[in-house]
Amino acid sequence: MRLQWTDSITGAVGYLVVHTLRAGLATGGTRMRAGCTLSEVEDLARGMADKTATFDLPVGGAKGGIDFDPKDPRAVDVLERFCEAMRPWLDSHWVTAEDLGVPQHLIDEIFAKLGLGQSYHAAINRADDPAATLARVRSGLNAAVEGGFLLGDVIGGYGVAHACLAAAVWWGRSPAQTTVAIQGVGTMGGAAAYYLHEAGMQVTTVADAAGTLHCADGLDVPALLALRDGYGEIDRSRLPEGIEQLPRTAILSSDVDILVPAAISYAITPDNSFDIRARIIVEAANAATTPEAEAMLAARGVPVVPDFVANAGAVAWAWWLLLGQVDDTPENSFDRLRTVMHSKVAQLLAAWADAGRTPRETGHRWADDPSPVSSPVVIP
Ligand SMILES: NC(=O)c1ccc[n+]([C@@H]2O[C@H](COP(=O)([O-])OP(=O)(O)OC[C@H]3O[C@@H](n4cnc5c(N)ncnc54)[C@H](O)[C@@H]3O)[C@@H](O)[C@H]2O)c1
Repeated sequence: MRLQWTDSITGAVGYLVVHTLRAGLATGGTRMRAGCTLSEVEDLARGMADKTATFDLPVGGAKGGIDFDPKDPRAVDVLERFCEAMRPWLDSHWVTAEDLGVPQHLIDEIFAKLGLGQSYHAAINRADDPAATLARVRSGLNAAVEGGFLLGDVIGGYGVAHACLAAAVWWGRSPAQTTVAIQGVGTMGGAAAYYLHEAGMQVTTVADAAGTLHCADGLDVPALLALRDGYGEIDRSRLPEGIEQLPRTAILSSDVDILVPAAISYAITPDNSFDIRARIIVEAANAATTPEAEAMLAARGVPVVPDFVANAGAVAWAWWLLLGQVDDTPENSFDRLRTVMHSKVAQLLAAWADAGRTPRETGHRWADDPSPVSSPVVIP
């Protein structure tokens, strides 16, 4: 189902694509970026369906996208009018969340303003006691974790970090012997960088929309993250000593073991795939690698751990929280996601090494065979 909306005030165009409804529900974040297209939102909705199937979540895939600059002072009002226009879907069928250009706290504030409580409203509304479920979800999302972060903001990036750590385990390397470059240091890339640095991996290069930052000895990730603004951009005027500043696209040709695209979709294309020097790509961004580029990388022996496994911790955790399978104790959430991610990535890479099957192909086999969903879904 494809819905197109035009904002009567700014002319901004927004899209909702529902790929699959399972038991009447679909899930997927809402992104805002200048240049967002319907076909991009279609790809993302399909990817969400792959994620929910791969992680056996009782919900289908959807996605929202708005073609508008999130830094424009009118952006919050545009997002609010989009949500208002999508209200019938948001009320009953579409569980949305943060995505590129739209932080969770902002979308939650808009839902509260519209009288819809919180962005998981369509699922919460089905609970026997919606007020209690809303309180549980809020306390999970806002649970404080180390580093001064909130659990809901870092859990997706934590999953990406463990997809990278699982790759290192597979090579038989310690984190300290492994280098990584991360494109994007917002919600996903920032958290992935934080947990990789914490695990001892050498984060030598990161990029944001303003450019690439590099230090061969490893960046001081917490110090850089502390310099971010609300859009995930690092303040260049306060950079620590010893950091080299490079053009934005330089991140892709970083001489590292692992490259994590964690910003825009279609970051890796046939035009730049030969620039990539990493041994493996772990997709934190949705649809980060075009199919043609992925085929070219596979031919060069570079596997891509696909978005619908590597970054699916964000949606899987949201549903574990909704279903009451995790609570606001961060250790429970981290333990569960770490175990699942290591197991899935180990299987993907084993199939790549043993059967020459790309990780995406293996992942699609899992997604094509999801567990049956009981109807109605019980949200405690
Ligand atoms: N936030 C989530 O819960 C979530 C979950 C799963 C997947 N994702 C995907 O992860 C990606 C990033 O989402 P996010 O929520 O972290 O976004 P965000 O808005 O929080 O951060 C985006 C980051 O990318 C940087 N960036 C933007 N354009 C860039 C460019 N051309 N080159 C280099 N860096 C650039 C920004 O400066 C910022 O650091 C998206 O593809 C999104 O779909 C997000």
